Amino acid sequence: MRNSKDEASMKKEDILSRFLQVSDTDPTYLRDIILNFIIAGKDTTTATLSWFIYMLCKHPDVQEKVAQEVKEATDTKEVKDFAEFAAILSEEALGKMHYLHAALTETLRLYPAVPVDAKICLSDETLPDGFSVRKGDMVCYQPYAMGRMKFIWGDDAEEFRPERCLDEEGMFQPESPFKFTAFQAGPRICLGKEFAYRQMKIFSAVLVHCFAFKLSDENKCVTYRTMINLHVDGGLHVRALHRCQT
Ligand code: HEM
Repeated sequence: MRNSKDEASMKKEDILSRFLQVSDTDPTYLRDIILNFIIAGKDTTTATLSWFIYMLCKHPDVQEKVAQEVKEATDTKEVKDFAEFAAILSEEALGKMHYLHAALTETLRLYPAVPVDAKICLSDETLPDGFSVRKGDMVCYQPYAMGRMKFIWGDDAEEFRPERCLDEEGMFQPESPFKFTAFQAGPRICLGKEFAYRQMKIFSAVLVHCFAFKLSDENKCVTYRTMINLHVDGGLHVRALHRCQT
């Protein structure tokens, strides 16, 4: 029999509540799924958002273009209350934010949240370039290095340029995941890719609409700390100015 607590969770739409609504879910399986989502989804998106804010500070013109696009897509004339603005962000408005989508993609090209990804060979194999690997060998591909290679991205590979991901009409043009490898490619491509973009777009749209960001210290070197994910070493120190004051 369902009690009032169960009834309350039936009304919720978050992922845990949805799994709980399927009555025969094994609790251990449920625990593992939720842990998997937290590990795969939390640090990847938060680290990317830090690098994104860093890129906006280094490229104020891009920051202004994102702010302008968010304003136009949501049809807001003035800076509204933070929570009020978040509540009016619709799917339709997010879908119009091609430049923001491109700026997040450029961030992931240069600062991929998973900078090195390792695989173990299940059998002896010959790679497309003729290199032989044996069963049990570890093979890594390196999204961080690949995102900066000139022979893949051209001479301006190290430049942060969202326009690279847009067509002439300003529409986002996705690259092959075998070229833009931040989410991996093939059958084991990140399951949360679209979810991650959606979450990052909502966060960035609200933040950039309400605040203008500047580095606390322009002379301080910002660099990475490699763990499983690519973090900003020591955290990113910024000043957030309410857009009315800029
Ligand atoms: C910027 C954000 C993210 C990046 C860059 C990213 C990147 C990746 C990469 C590179 C892999 C492949 C790892 C491997 O198999 O070696 C992966 C797998 C995975 N990701 Fe993400 N991820 C992000 C966000 C998320 C989010 C938000 C979720 C869930 C809500 C998620 C769920 C998963 C899952 C479940 C897998 C395993 C897929 C499988 O093995 O079949 N990811 N992700």
